[in-house]
Amino acid sequence: DLQEFLVTRNAFLPESSPLERLPDSYYEPWEAIARELPKHIQQDTIRKVVANLPVLSTDRLQSVEEWRRAYVILAFMTHAHIWGGDKPAEIIPPQISIPFLKVSSHLELPPVLSYAAANLWNFSCSGQDFTDLESLKTLVSFTGSKSEDWFLLISVAMEASGAGLIDTMLEALNAIKTRDYDIIIDALGELARRIKEVGTLLERMYEHCDPMVFYHHIRPFLAGSKNMADSGLPKGVFFDEGDGQGEWRQLRGGSNGQSSLIQFFDVVLGVDHKGDGGVPPPPGEKTFHQQVRDYMPGPHARFLVHVERLGSIRELALAAAAPANIGERGEQQERLSAAYSAAIDALTDFRNKHIRIVTRYIILPSRQRWNGGGRQNLASASSSLGKETGQLTGTGGTALLPFLKHSRDETANAVRLGR
Ligand code: HEM
Ligand code: ALA
Repeated sequence: DLQEFLVTRNAFLPESSPLERLPDSYYEPWEAIARELPKHIQQDTIRKVVANLPVLSTDRLQSVEEWRRAYVILAFMTHAHIWGGDKPAEIIPPQISIPFLKVSSHLELPPVLSYAAANLWNFSCSGQDFTDLESLKTLVSFTGSKSEDWFLLISVAMEASGAGLIDTMLEALNAIKTRDYDIIIDALGELARRIKEVGTLLERMYEHCDPMVFYHHIRPFLAGSKNMADSGLPKGVFFDEGDGQGEWRQLRGGSNGQSSLIQFFDVVLGVDHKGDGGVPPPPGEKTFHQQVRDYMPGPHARFLVHVERLGSIRELALAAAAPANIGERGEQQERLSAAYSAAIDALTDFRNKHIRIVTRYIILPSRQRWNGGGRQNLASASSSLGKETGQLTGTGGTALLPFLKHSRDETANAVRLGR
């Protein structure tokens, strides 16, 4: 039963469109800021309005949809507060900290603009088909721009492409025990088709998300507080809970690396991400791919662990292709091995498309002059290019290309025994 994992007909997206506003007018002060966020950022009033907020209680939040809506608003408000000024704000005041910490722990998420906050729970759809970009709209936005809407909604459409796929792949994992090759082969075919669909959606980014707008106006607000010393947050951010209470935290910023769907692809294909950019994590630390599970809604992260324990299609496929079996290799085994390779190719290809996106939206803009006018946000200059190191850092805190290329190579190598 997938309900305990909060997996729906739409995979990791909710069953129906998220709540567009909190029904209890008690929360109107939050809603008002959410509605006017782009204006407050542009006019430099965001920190003032946050300072003037009352500390609202979470006691009046009822349904899970309401908790999620509160999480979305507070996450956007937090990042607007941190990055919406000439220097980043290190202190998150009690008006945000107190409710945000409660809401986050209720939803088993960190108090940061996670993928759940920016994407999974931040859209509405006028129809039934969440893959239809024309019928999607964003709820909360930093800039209110078409580029930002498009950037956020592409992910929603991609996640929605996972609809139905989860059942198919669970059946395939079940079929390992019975060696029911046909079920597994068909499922791998379906998986490859969906991965290609997701890749096609990813490339639609170019249609309406302008790289310079993304780099200078949107991206700075996605940044977290981990590996952000160069951007002015050497200790991370302090969550001030009032009365001298509080804690410094370093959290990764928004990244689609937190997508449970993409990790689901890796898990069912047995793709193992051992290290970041080829470098294993220091002893006691987890890799990026493991760490970002803590940035997924708790039930989704548990679902991935559950799937990992169901068996390995990869082992079956590699055994079918092993030289020792060549002589007796049946027609089915050959088809299984081919279907597995095709799915791996699709996922490798997806990661290549993504690397091209990163080049277009981060690497190239970082080398170009910006004549876009308006107030150039401090973060745009600093969050991306380390002042001391001159190195680019992803909003998720990685070294970008070395990390992404390695992740791609680990995918391609999954077809090799021993890797
Ligand atoms: C990771 C950039 C859109 C999927 C990353 C990382 C960067 C990045 C820099 C490295 C982690 C970090 O430090 O932040 C971008 C840019 C995008 C974009 C600039 C659009 C303008 C997307 C979309 C998807 C996606 C729409 C959804 C399929 C991933 C995944 C990872 C990742 C799965 C983890 C690395 C991996 O598993 O190979 N992205 N991304 N990205 N991104 Fe994106
Ligand atoms: N993680 C993406 C970046 O670094 C959004 O820009």
